[in-house]
Amino acid sequence: MQKLVIANWKANKSLAQAEDWLATVKNADLNLPNEAVMPILAPAMPQVGALSSTINDLGWRLAVQDLSPFPAGSYTGATSVANLHDLGVQYAIVGHSERRQYFSETAQDVARKVEQALEVGIIPIVCVSEETLNAQASALDESLAKRCIVAYEPLSAIGTGHDAPMSDIKAFRSQAERLFGQVPFVYGGSVDPSNVAEHLLVTDGVLVGTASLESSEFIHLLKTALGSPGVAAWKIQTLF
Ligand code: PGA
Repeated sequence: MQKLVIANWKANKSLAQAEDWLATVKNADLNLPNEAVMPILAPAMPQVGALSSTINDLGWRLAVQDLSPFPAGSYTGATSVANLHDLGVQYAIVGHSERRQYFSETAQDVARKVEQALEVGIIPIVCVSEETLNAQASALDESLAKRCIVAYEPLSAIGTGHDAPMSDIKAFRSQAERLFGQVPFVYGGSVDPSNVAEHLLVTDGVLVGTASLESSEFIHLLKTALGSPGVAAWKIQTLF
């Protein structure tokens, strides 16, 4: 599997700002994706449709930051998987700690979102931390859990400028694998150009919030990821 570099813009950017960002990234000629690194962009929901073809032209993948736990129907304000059907969405971030905190999402809600996503072939990126890992795994049927990507997002690291130590990430990964199986594992929480290389040594990818907002910083992060030993080691293991 390629290393995933996932940009989560959260509730930032107008459509014009989002288009500018993509134009700058395109001009940077990063030659991405390649066999080792796949960028994934998660814009705010109203921009998903508008940006879909530009992201597709770049060869990048498109994610949503959330989706409805319900199917199509009378659920005012929700975005169902049916609404996303023809927009080229391949991943859905679900259970982000900000959703759990500000929108009171429970592990059961997140499990229903996972079910919705998987039903239409969207891969759920399930965000968990020490506080939510066990409850989230119990809420998920084993057959669904093993089709997810697990994102370790320690609360102390999100938006603080203090990423988690590698020893914590490795320990959390073992715990998560006991509960979810050998699923792809990404880390999120203050990932930036200075620490991305280290994170890619112990994960299958990174989830990037703050450092994805400025195109120049994200380009720097992608270039660092491309030259990182984690990516080189992965290439040697996988390609030869
Ligand atoms: P951050 O956000 O990179 O700003 O810490 C990460 C996240 O919330 O996924």
